[in-house]
Amino acid sequence: MQAVALNQNSVGLPESVGDNDVRILALMNPAPLVVSHPLAQIHLTAMRRQETSTAQFRWHLHRLAEILFTVATRALETETVTLQTPLAETQGQTFARPIILVPILRAGLGLSEAIHPLVPDAIVAHIGISRCEETAQPKPYFARIPGSLWKSEVFLLDPMLATGGSACFTIKQLKAAGAERITFICVVSSPEGLEAMAEEHPDVPIITAAIDEGLNDKFFIVPGLGDAGDRCFGT
Ligand code: PRP
Repeated sequence: MQAVALNQNSVGLPESVGDNDVRILALMNPAPLVVSHPLAQIHLTAMRRQETSTAQFRWHLHRLAEILFTVATRALETETVTLQTPLAETQGQTFARPIILVPILRAGLGLSEAIHPLVPDAIVAHIGISRCEETAQPKPYFARIPGSLWKSEVFLLDPMLATGGSACFTIKQLKAAGAERITFICVVSSPEGLEAMAEEHPDVPIITAAIDEGLNDKFFIVPGLGDAGDRCFGT
């Protein structure tokens, strides 16, 4: 699949969509939302370029994270509060529920570093997962999750949705810990990862900047942007 420009309520379908793609997306409620805003696509394009340096990659990832989070929170429930300005009493909005950011280490840190300043009161829960290089199976190595997930808005953050193993595993952990409202934010997704999400967690909304063609024989997203963790941190 190719990433395509779409409006906010559309799915990232290419011009020639296969039956399998339709089947995957039909399973998901809501359907994945591909953020087509030109600013998002320009930052993504810079991230895809092989010659983009680590510093530039991280800078574009941060800018894209701000855009994706803004879209992901567009319908977040708020409560009305009464406040006093220097001139008069008026009403404003506050978040109805606590916000919890869950970056999947390492690459997810590139998203949380940019998003946390937008919601400085958010709690950050960290999940460490690395993929087995041969099988791409998720290997968890760290978890620090708060106990108040059931009453919170949880945002799972990982730039890549490849096989979907890492995201599906983490969402299972989050649900087991009581999370009821989870949104997954990723930069690049694959049809294979979306299918895994549709089968295991069709209730979790996905916000992404692109749906790419698919995985290669090493389970990397093609065309993708390489290894997001390595490109973000220079290792
Ligand atoms: C990459 C990526 C995702 C995961 C996606 O992490 O950042 O976490 O793989 O693949 P999946 O959908 O097949 O599970 P990696 O294991 O390379 O760890 P890193 O972030 O530390 O580089």
